[in-house]
Amino acid sequence: VPAERATSTPRTRGADLHLELPAEPAGGLRAGVMEALREAVRTGRLAPGVRLPSSRSLAADLGVARNTVADAYAELVAEGWLTARQGSGTAVARRASPRRPAAPARTGPSTTGPVHDLRPGRPDTASFPRAEWLRATRRALATAPNSAFDYGGPRGRIELRTALADYLARARGVRATPERVVVCSGVLHALQLLGGALRARGVRSIGVEAYGLGGQRAMLARSGLRTPPLPLDAHGARTDDPAGLAGLGAVLLTPAHQFPTGVALHPDRRAAVVDWARASGGLVLEDDYDGEFRYDRHPVGALQGLDPEHVVHLGTTSKALAPGLRLGWMVLPGSLLAEVERQKAGQEFTTGVVEQLTLAELLVSGGYDRHVRARRLAYRRRRDQLVTRLAERAGGVRVAGLSAGLHALLELPPGTEDDVLRAAAWHQVAVHGLDRYRHPDADPLPDALVVGYATPSASAWAGALDALCGALP
Ligand SMILES: Cc1ncc(COP(=O)(O)O)c(C=O)c1O
Repeated sequence: VPAERATSTPRTRGADLHLELPAEPAGGLRAGVMEALREAVRTGRLAPGVRLPSSRSLAADLGVARNTVADAYAELVAEGWLTARQGSGTAVARRASPRRPAAPARTGPSTTGPVHDLRPGRPDTASFPRAEWLRATRRALATAPNSAFDYGGPRGRIELRTALADYLARARGVRATPERVVVCSGVLHALQLLGGALRARGVRSIGVEAYGLGGQRAMLARSGLRTPPLPLDAHGARTDDPAGLAGLGAVLLTPAHQFPTGVALHPDRRAAVVDWARASGGLVLEDDYDGEFRYDRHPVGALQGLDPEHVVHLGTTSKALAPGLRLGWMVLPGSLLAEVERQKAGQEFTTGVVEQLTLAELLVSGGYDRHVRARRLAYRRRRDQLVTRLAERAGGVRVAGLSAGLHALLELPPGTEDDVLRAAAWHQVAVHGLDRYRHPDADPLPDALVVGYATPSASAWAGALDALCGALP
């Protein structure tokens, strides 16, 4: 939008003004225009004395009604940001020079980037147990044999595989021996290795949940696998429908806590998918990404416990400790072990021995359990506060899904998901709509938001909740 200096020689020294309007700002278009102009003045992009375009020309550039701009100008004149003089149009007031530091957050919602991170899938990185981790590293290094620092094997350190087998049996009902455990850098890496192993077996298609992580689907597709969607409802994926499973060599599920809809796979469907795998020779990949975090009851045991020869159990430290560690594991059926090992041997091993030995030490010493218990309590409180605050302030949404994990599904009135996302951006909240997780070939579920409640620091949480509520119907 061209703006010109209100000098004695108007229209000869044009400056370029770029105004960014959110598509549908909360508070309406007039408020959006006003805030965009204030922001331009605050940051100095519109200098004192600069003459603004006529309301007609700005309205045309922004694609809004002329009155919207005229009203915004009039209000900003009343507030002292702009001046209007007969014959010389509207200009930036001389005294409205930028105050530094410019602080858009203090003056209310603005179009600058998000300050409240409520994206799902992340833990509170501030809670990483640095001191505990350091102590465990020290203990692990003091006792590790010299050979631990040599090139290792693709399965990972025996200390960690032993500690994981014990822990997963105790905490998740996984049937594991150290020989069946392969260390990797997380679930995504596991899917890369398993994708290759499945292709080597001649598998062409792996069914995935109709809503899930696009990155996981893409990783499987990179191995040359097709990833058709399995429909989802309130009981999880439709593993009870033989037609949907026909022709698949494997399925990828989040049985304990579906991501992102938050439901558990119904016991009948758990049994059905295992029956299917036995009858067809198929494999079930169980992504147990947040199985430790269940708040209303003891977590449902791992699906792998039903049939360790047909279910691959996948776990990660990404929720309980930190995604930056890049440390996860697979518990494999005997029939897959050699091929997965071969796949991994063909790559860089990715997980350093010091991290592996440290995690083993943390598991054996009980430090991991203590950390998970403390986090469970903290995340449970967060979830309770979210539910309470929404009940008070956002009557138009309903919290769906299990009381579990690090995210909640907020069901929205039909047709409002995009509007709510725009309002959230306006309130500087980073949050995801459910549709972002939809498989491109899947039927849409009703509108919803996927809210991660783990990430904000303790001091930022109340503000993040308020900002979220401000964006909700
Ligand atoms: C469904 C699901 N699976 C797995 C993960 C963790 O993946 P990774 O272990 O590769 O960090 C996440 C994290 O966001 C997730 O949401």
